Amino acid sequence: MKKLIDRITEIVEQGFADCGYERSLGKVTLSNRPDLCEYQCNGAMAGAKLYKKAPIVIANDVVGKLSGNEVFEEAGAVNPGFINMKLSGAFLAEYLEQMDGDERLGICPEGKPETIVIDYGGPNVAKPLHVGHLRSAIIGESMKRLSRFLGHKVIGDVHLGDWGLQMGLIIEELRERQPELPYFKEDYEGGYPEEAPFTIGELEEIYPSASARSKMDEGFAKKAHDATFKLQNGNRGYLALWNHILNVSVSDLKKNYENLGVTFDIWKKESDVQGYIPAMVERMKEEGFARESQGALVVDVSEETDAKEVPPCILLKSDGATLYSTTDLATLVEREKLFAPDRILYVVDKRQSLHFTQVFRCAKKTGIVRPQVKLDFLGFGTMNGRDGKPFKTRDGGIMRLEYLIREIGDAVYEKIMENKSMEEEDARETAKMIGLAALKYGDLSNQAAKDYVFDVDRFISFEGDTGPYILYTIVRIKSIQARYAALSDRREGEGRILPAASESEKALQLMVSRMQDALLSAFSEQAPHKLCQYVYELSNAFNKFYHETKIMAETDQERQAAYIRLLGLVRRVLETCIDILGFEAPDRM
Ligand code: ARG
Repeated sequence: MKKLIDRITEIVEQGFADCGYERSLGKVTLSNRPDLCEYQCNGAMAGAKLYKKAPIVIANDVVGKLSGNEVFEEAGAVNPGFINMKLSGAFLAEYLEQMDGDERLGICPEGKPETIVIDYGGPNVAKPLHVGHLRSAIIGESMKRLSRFLGHKVIGDVHLGDWGLQMGLIIEELRERQPELPYFKEDYEGGYPEEAPFTIGELEEIYPSASARSKMDEGFAKKAHDATFKLQNGNRGYLALWNHILNVSVSDLKKNYENLGVTFDIWKKESDVQGYIPAMVERMKEEGFARESQGALVVDVSEETDAKEVPPCILLKSDGATLYSTTDLATLVEREKLFAPDRILYVVDKRQSLHFTQVFRCAKKTGIVRPQVKLDFLGFGTMNGRDGKPFKTRDGGIMRLEYLIREIGDAVYEKIMENKSMEEEDARETAKMIGLAALKYGDLSNQAAKDYVFDVDRFISFEGDTGPYILYTIVRIKSIQARYAALSDRREGEGRILPAASESEKALQLMVSRMQDALLSAFSEQAPHKLCQYVYELSNAFNKFYHETKIMAETDQERQAAYIRLLGLVRRVLETCIDILGFEAPDRM
């Protein structure tokens, strides 16, 4: 369906054209004075210079052509030359009818559908998933769902970090603890055990202790480096161990992401692309992109217009080792080969911004990706505690994702039980749903690049700009629907959305009609917070309408049925939007 604002623009443009003015002057925007009108056009002001006429004269000319158009209840020229418009109730109601009649609420993709790879999640194998990865998962998931809803072909890739020093650290630590394992025997030729020599619980303890030790013990750190190097160069025993680490870790990660309602289409990992590196590096040398610098192999990526110097992108260190950037370049080689995407979106901590600038420039310059491929970086800020410092647990440790989810779920549960509104078991289920909404909305409603404060009390509040408030609004609608369905004299299926009978109903209808604008701008600006904003405004518009309207006591049955239809549409819009944001509403709360 065409966006409402585009339809109005077309009409006003025609008005300008009919008066002999430039058509493009007729662009319509949302009113910035909602007390005066719903939409406005400022084209007469621009036209004044062009036609050497007072803007109000032009505005009046155009308004002359608009009056009588059934789309408008009111179209007027006001000084110095604004055209102010209010939509006719019948037109708006008809627009919503069409939306409601469409399975996808009238939303169509803008332009040609793209193939988009979204790189998000980015957990590191064998390291516990912590809140630093939470934002990537939440924001990335919503961008994936949004892009997909708008008709794009999306491939969500978790891009596991499985090829770094953490592997060498774990291997060395294991060697100290269980030197008798066959993985460490130099010329062992037999098969290795199928069963991993550790559980996930042990693994999670091994890494931090190895990491701490490497900081104090240089000899150990050196050994871990060597083990990493050997692994990366195909040591059989280490590869077998690495496989165990991977398997144990991945099944745990999957469980964690499942709890978050986050799913990936592919589980690619850094190690998968190592095979592309030799040829890639060779080509960069041959084609003269790479040069040697203090023994390392680098590609220059600075540009004249850089305000701050962008250092060269390093391909190989002096000892021949590859780096994070090498792996990301090789990943681009593979993504081009497998998906030939139009766009790749990276949802990563904004502190990695320089790294991605280097990688993107290098990939473009050396032709790893085609020139038209859009490489986008959606960098997010830090989640802080109430003290303004990066979020920690009460005992000061890095907060693990599971605990965080549990903490917020528990807080909601207590709140529900205080109200004694539910059986214990239902309360647990509901608390989990609400908790997830609180967590995700609390994150997504902030502009991604900004740091934000994780404040459980605020996030779980049923009032204000929070996830639970949105859910509460949906639950309220569900309950009215249920009461209406129980009426014996209701006229089933006959309702049509009617022209609004009050200002708050009109405001609600207008808000519903803006769903498509909200989705499209959230997509094009890669800004899920824009969608949150819309959902919040729509909820506010609904609640205002609800407080001012006697829905169940309405005696005019047609009017009542129209309210119910409108409610149903509001619910669908809200539910669709929160599904895109990655959470859902319970039946009661
Ligand atoms: N594993 C990385 C980290 O924890 C994030 C990976 C982001 N994606 C990428 N293609 N580099 O920092």
